[in-house]
Amino acid sequence: MSVENLAISFGSNQVLKSVNLELHAGETLGVIGPNGAGKTVMLNIMTGILKPDGGRLVFLGRDILKEGVVERVRMGLGRTFQIPRSFRNMTAYENSLVGAVFGSGLTERAAGARARDILDMIGLSGKKLEPAGKLGLLDRKRLEIGVALATGPRALLLDEAAGGLTESEVAEILGIVRKVKESGVGVIWIEHVLQTMLHGTDRVMLLAEGRDVICGRPRDVMSSREVEEAYLGAGVGARTRRKRA
Ligand SMILES: Nc1ncnc2c1ncn2[C@@H]1O[C@H](COP(=O)(O)OP(=O)(O)OP(=O)(O)O)[C@@H](O)[C@H]1O
Ligand SMILES: [Mg+2]
Repeated sequence: MSVENLAISFGSNQVLKSVNLELHAGETLGVIGPNGAGKTVMLNIMTGILKPDGGRLVFLGRDILKEGVVERVRMGLGRTFQIPRSFRNMTAYENSLVGAVFGSGLTERAAGARARDILDMIGLSGKKLEPAGKLGLLDRKRLEIGVALATGPRALLLDEAAGGLTESEVAEILGIVRKVKESGVGVIWIEHVLQTMLHGTDRVMLLAEGRDVICGRPRDVMSSREVEEAYLGAGVGARTRRKRA
């Protein structure tokens, strides 16, 4: 996937000015940035929920900005939502099945097999008959990824898939994402938990002030002046540097 000069405003609020990124098969790209930086907006543009004012979005060699939400899912763009959106009264298995049937157009039989494989892969087989609404947060987060995987994505977009989880729970999500990556899927992973970004991604991009400010090796980006300034405010960063100097 490649994104060029993506821009969007809501009234006078220019949220994205120019965002550029590339995602390769089998790669995990972490995206960090302060609250309100436009990370979710960027995913909403990629998946077709929002229409940008300008820019290009090329996926598998095609500019897909004119495609609808469903077409993009069918082309292989899967996503999770910051607040899990499973169907609460349906079981974990039924939720996974919905992803497989509607997201990838498999026959019912093939979709059933895929739904079961995915529950296995995300560690939810033991709870497949539980209503999604009764699951705890970790299991709902797992299922959110599972439903996206059931659509058969070539790129998976994760919006805070590990948000609100304890350290050991985050490790479970890291394990799932690693398996997804190893299967050749490209992953964009938005997350505030910096440890997750260090251990679970190949590259990290900082989104701030409407731009892809810096992108590189996780360790380098995390310890960069750009990240310090984006999270602490430019004034504080500049003061700290002067003091160090
Ligand atoms: N549909 C919309 N209409 C108007 N403004 C919007 C819309 N969606 C997002 N915004 C605004 O865009 C900005 C970026 O929001 P976004 O949700 O992308 O931030 P974020 O980086 O995901 O933050 P967080 O880390 O808190 O999830 C905010 O100012 C938000 O109010
Ligand atoms: Mg967000």
